[in-house]
Amino acid sequence: MADLSTVFTGIHFENPFLLASAPPTESETNIMRAYEAGWGGVVTKTIGLHPVVNVRGPKTKFLRADNGGTRLSMAKRPDTTLVASWNWELISDKPLDWWIGRLSAIKKAWPNKVLVASIMAGSGNDKELANWQTLTRAVQDEGVDAIELNFSCPHMDRVDMGANVGKDPVLCSVSTQAVKEVARVPVWVKLTPASADIVEEAAAVFRMGGDAISSSNTFPSLPLIDPETLDFEVNVDGYVASGGLGGPAILPQSLAKMAQMTQAFPDREFSGIGGISTFAHALNYFLLGCGTVQVATAAMLDHAIGPNVIRTLTSGMTEFLERNAERGWTSLADFRGLRRGHVVPHAQIARPNAADYHGGYEDDAEGYARAEEFAQAR
Ligand SMILES: Cc1cc2nc3c(=O)[nH]c(=O)nc-3n(C[C@H](O)[C@H](O)[C@H](O)COP(=O)(O)O)c2cc1C
Repeated sequence: MADLSTVFTGIHFENPFLLASAPPTESETNIMRAYEAGWGGVVTKTIGLHPVVNVRGPKTKFLRADNGGTRLSMAKRPDTTLVASWNWELISDKPLDWWIGRLSAIKKAWPNKVLVASIMAGSGNDKELANWQTLTRAVQDEGVDAIELNFSCPHMDRVDMGANVGKDPVLCSVSTQAVKEVARVPVWVKLTPASADIVEEAAAVFRMGGDAISSSNTFPSLPLIDPETLDFEVNVDGYVASGGLGGPAILPQSLAKMAQMTQAFPDREFSGIGGISTFAHALNYFLLGCGTVQVATAAMLDHAIGPNVIRTLTSGMTEFLERNAERGWTSLADFRGLRRGHVVPHAQIARPNAADYHGGYEDDAEGYARAEEFAQAR
């Protein structure tokens, strides 16, 4: 019998699928609708202590490609396929006080669903480190099951916040340490993919007692420029700032980051995020060793909280387990990490025999000249 339940950082999940910290989890009504729809858990929109005012106009737009064509644009039009989301939305614009009372009410109404509070403070001075502790105490007193530290928001001007923490192993250490000093629940840390070697930041987090790493947040990016108006497709008075790319485009990129970490720390726990809308997508993260996965963009585009997405994920996992029942697989534990060891240094990938080698050109390789064209060109 297929069993979708799992245990991650000591917490029981009815299924390993969570809504990521994003608009789908920005209010208690959304979160309760999400539980009702079948999500195993949610990570709240990130809660902070500083006042938040978002930019004028749209905070998120969706980049689409014409079916069978070449146009890439955020313009609404028929016959397109989603490529990515692009956003410059800040963390929750509701203060901590707004969340207090609501988090406990959510937990009371849905005691068996997992509620993770995402929090963010600075890390540049003792006052900011104390803010991490204030947030931690406040949300855990509300009864949340775990805390996720946001070291990954890609649009922060402050050098000691968001992705700027996640790019610096020392800031990762001090912030994780500050939280762990007061945390009574598991601490997950969401790292930015925009760092040279994410393994270094992951090491800093684990050294300070972090219980799991979530990755990826969105990738730093700009909206495209409209060739007619010469304006960025998202702008305010013609100006844009760096924002974050999510959705299908980042799945392969996020996997590369995840593979580095799961290989470096095979015994640690990881929550995979980026580009997931079906079980086939989620499976990539599970096969690399992740114990849960999270979804943002796909849920936003499906009735704001993803009722069809979670149905597809759970039915996809059930069918996958049934298809592999003859291997004795009944739950995630049976296939988690099976491909972790298959990402190797380039030099370890087999080369052809000298006789079969045509200067690296294969007759049927898309994007390359045919071998005889190559020989003539020489
Ligand atoms: C509009 C929007 C707002 C987001 N806000 C947050 C946030 O407050 N905190 C956070 O940790 N991640 C935030 N994210 C990042 C998502 O949680 C997720 O990591 C990212 O979108 C990649 O997943 P996806 O490909 O499923 O969208 C946001 C993403 C979007 C699209």
